[in-house]
Amino acid sequence: MKLGVNIDHVATIRNARGTSYPDPLKAAEIAIDAGADFITVHLREDRRHVRDEDVFNLKKNINTELNLEIAATEEMLKIAKRVKPYSIGIVPEKREELTTEGGLDIGNMHSKLSSIIEEMHSTGIKVSLFIDPNINQLKYLEKLEIKPDIIEIHTGDYCDNPSEEKLQLIINATEHVNKLGIECHAGHGITLTHAKRIKEISHISTLNIGHSLISEAIFYGLHSVVKTMKTTISN
Ligand code: PXP
Repeated sequence: MKLGVNIDHVATIRNARGTSYPDPLKAAEIAIDAGADFITVHLREDRRHVRDEDVFNLKKNINTELNLEIAATEEMLKIAKRVKPYSIGIVPEKREELTTEGGLDIGNMHSKLSSIIEEMHSTGIKVSLFIDPNINQLKYLEKLEIKPDIIEIHTGDYCDNPSEEKLQLIINATEHVNKLGIECHAGHGITLTHAKRIKEISHISTLNIGHSLISEAIFYGLHSVVKTMKTTISN
């Protein structure tokens, strides 16, 4: 199973102080050095975490694949065509939400999604669709002949409040994606504990994880940086 590391929240911390650090590029380099297979960033309409220049900077400087999450808007599609990431992940986006709260409504968006897939394929960019573990949404793909390269199953509901029943919905969805012959990824809300269960699901090839990794990084790094500061000012 591969790991996509979402570094948005490094930019969130930077933006909170209006400083130039912490730099998302540095976070990406550390994540890649530690084994990340993909770097994921979500360029939101309100630019609350990464900004346009971060995305271009990452694409230019990292030596692994970039996955750019965006809403299906003209503005974002134009940026994606200029950045030329390995893949774009289409996600629903509401300005007032704290994070991506649900998957795409394939039935309502099908003609837009088909034209995005066609447009992106013509420039060599793979397309991922972020979908809830809901078989009805997945059935639309077949019925409406929508052919993304990747489906990312939204694991947020399971991770927020895990149950065997919710895990089974994810398993069913991944089996359906596999039957459609589409690569299956999963993400949202995944911690180390959740990952131990989710990694057993055979059809998922990549997990995209952000918030829990950046959160844990604070505790794994705080001791060392406080010690360095203390030593520096004491000497
Ligand atoms: N996958 C998608 C499509 C997302 O929108 C996000 C959040 O930006 C993630 C994965 C990562 O979620 P988390 O930050 O909760 O690990």
